[in-house]
Amino acid sequence: MNIRVFQTAEDAAHAAAAAVTAQLARKPASVLGLPTGRTTLAVYDELARLHESGTADFSRAHTFNLDEFVGLAANDKRSYCAFMQKHLFTRINLPGSHIHFLNGGARNHQEECDRFEREIAALGGMDLLLLGIGANAHIGFNEPAHALHARSHKTRLALATRRANASLFGGRLDRVPREALTMGIGTMLDARAVVLIATGREKARAIGSMFEGRISTDRPASVLQLHPRVEVILDLPAAEKLPQSGFDAQA
Ligand code: GLP
Repeated sequence: MNIRVFQTAEDAAHAAAAAVTAQLARKPASVLGLPTGRTTLAVYDELARLHESGTADFSRAHTFNLDEFVGLAANDKRSYCAFMQKHLFTRINLPGSHIHFLNGGARNHQEECDRFEREIAALGGMDLLLLGIGANAHIGFNEPAHALHARSHKTRLALATRRANASLFGGRLDRVPREALTMGIGTMLDARAVVLIATGREKARAIGSMFEGRISTDRPASVLQLHPRVEVILDLPAAEKLPQSGFDAQA
């Protein structure tokens, strides 16, 4: 895995946005995998700015978001779908029909996950998957567990993850759904390239666990060691628990 460490969270976000922009320049009809979360806000701000300045063209791209809360319809303002509309999709020229989401309001969860998998496959798979990471090393909503699911599925959220998402629900933990639909780990590993961004000290332990040379279902992001093209973009605090050598420090 290629690691790049930046002085500030903003620099890291700009590097992640630049990776997306470079992918679009190489292949305008790229299929992108996209995450939500606070870390992505600066990335999406920068992508909106790059679009505004004429550098990033999304007109032929397709996007697949990683996850959605069970029970929330796309138009629910607390949904990840609404998050994406607000922070990215309404600010760029991505056609609405090119936005792909797991529908948290679907009646049959398995059918919905199968449909999502078929859509990714029908578009030839993801060219670039952008990932954030949870403090417990979850990716998408693949939580630490005895076994990880290869394909998209319904999952139970860890308490820590529900706490981390409470701000979307007015700070009320009791209102955060207990279940979500998420892209599977195998689906993520099928992406042709992966860029993971993490900023802040609270992610340092999770990032460190990706570089211990072991793959553990207790640390879902550690499976990315199996992927041949992963770039990990960090700010200094998130890099605190990295092994001391072997990375390309840009700070
Ligand atoms: C959520 C999302 C993940 C995201 C993680 C980190 O749980 N399901 O895809 O990577 O949060 O979020 P943040 O950037 O807010 O720390």
